[in-house]
Amino acid sequence: MLITHVVGARPNFMKAAPVVAALRRYDTVSQLLVHTGQHYDANMSGIFFDQLGLPQPDVDLGVGSASHAIQTAEIMIRLEQVLVEQRPDIVLVYGDVNSTLAAALVSVKLSIPVGHVEAGLRSFDRRMPEEINRLLTDQIADLLFTPSADGDQNLRCEGVAPDRVYLVGNVMIDSLVRLLPNAEARWDDLCTRLKLQDYGLVTLHRPSNVDDPSKLTQILNALADISEGLPLVFPMHPRTRRRMADFGLEGLSKSLGLIEPLSYLDFLTLQRRATVIITDSGGIQEESTFLGVPCLTLRENTERPITVSLGTNTLVSQDMTQLKCQVRQILRGEAKSGKIPPLWDGMAGERIAAIVVGQSGA
Ligand code: UD1
Repeated sequence: MLITHVVGARPNFMKAAPVVAALRRYDTVSQLLVHTGQHYDANMSGIFFDQLGLPQPDVDLGVGSASHAIQTAEIMIRLEQVLVEQRPDIVLVYGDVNSTLAAALVSVKLSIPVGHVEAGLRSFDRRMPEEINRLLTDQIADLLFTPSADGDQNLRCEGVAPDRVYLVGNVMIDSLVRLLPNAEARWDDLCTRLKLQDYGLVTLHRPSNVDDPSKLTQILNALADISEGLPLVFPMHPRTRRRMADFGLEGLSKSLGLIEPLSYLDFLTLQRRATVIITDSGGIQEESTFLGVPCLTLRENTERPITVSLGTNTLVSQDMTQLKCQVRQILRGEAKSGKIPPLWDGMAGERIAAIVVGQSGA
């Protein structure tokens, strides 16, 4: 049985690694890894492969950054040739980035079955490019691996046949569980290098927060206010850094603790010890819930509602008064506590591998 994994952007890598590792245990299975090149900087891609133990990609499509249409189309054109040559029995795609949808579409058009890891999540906000990627990928995938029961419910409402849906748990948490000890071993170094004591950890990259000059200015001003009571560490995504430069906002950066994007392990240990995490990421809402660290999410909605209902996540939208108020509450020791959702147990990759192999009879 030949399985091709397609990954492209930073949040794909920690989801693919546990599935690749679990499938290695089946000697009837061969695997190929295709990197679309959606993310290409060493600190957005290469270092994650090294730390997560992912093999070097067998093929790198080298697509790079472009508009959504160009990026998606280029992935499709280049991947089609690769899949025609490889003829895998199944293609596995991850998450909700442009590479996910592009790869799923190419595969189904070649009549190659598709498995979608992290299926069923919905923000119900079609202004988000990721929501479109999720909806369309789930419509055309053959096997849908969901991280939590809300995913199954969403797919049911969309009329997806239940026999295509498998509740397997959160595969990204597999990587976290496996690598947290390695991450912890880096704490002393990191702590000295960044001169850390108590701190808030910030990430920001959603177009809805960073592409509008007035919204970005408001957020950065609020963060500067917060940093007067709690120092911040802010590993900055290249999109956000570019926008700050485009909008002439570098002057605001002084108190924000800006650093370059961090590796997987460094970021994990910083999450684990943060007083609060302020983010607009998807995956960080989940990781902070698992780690029991309060998370304030700068979004109006989330495709990961279980992190709010069960976990430590609070949506603060773009309401900066609310953000500052929530931070003060956390600093008073009144942080929201949470529980770890069912099946976020480090075994999701194993469950996916067993289903994929079982389906093929390999
Ligand atoms: C993409 C995903 C988003 C995910 C995020 C994680 C889509 C639609 N969006 O958003 O869901 O949360 O990845 O990071 O797929 N850039 C670099 N170096 C890189 C990669 C990007 O400098 O290695 C810069 C480029 O200026 C690029 C910009 O970042 O134009 C945005 O990159 P892109 O892949 O288009 O989207 P992300 O914002 O990273």
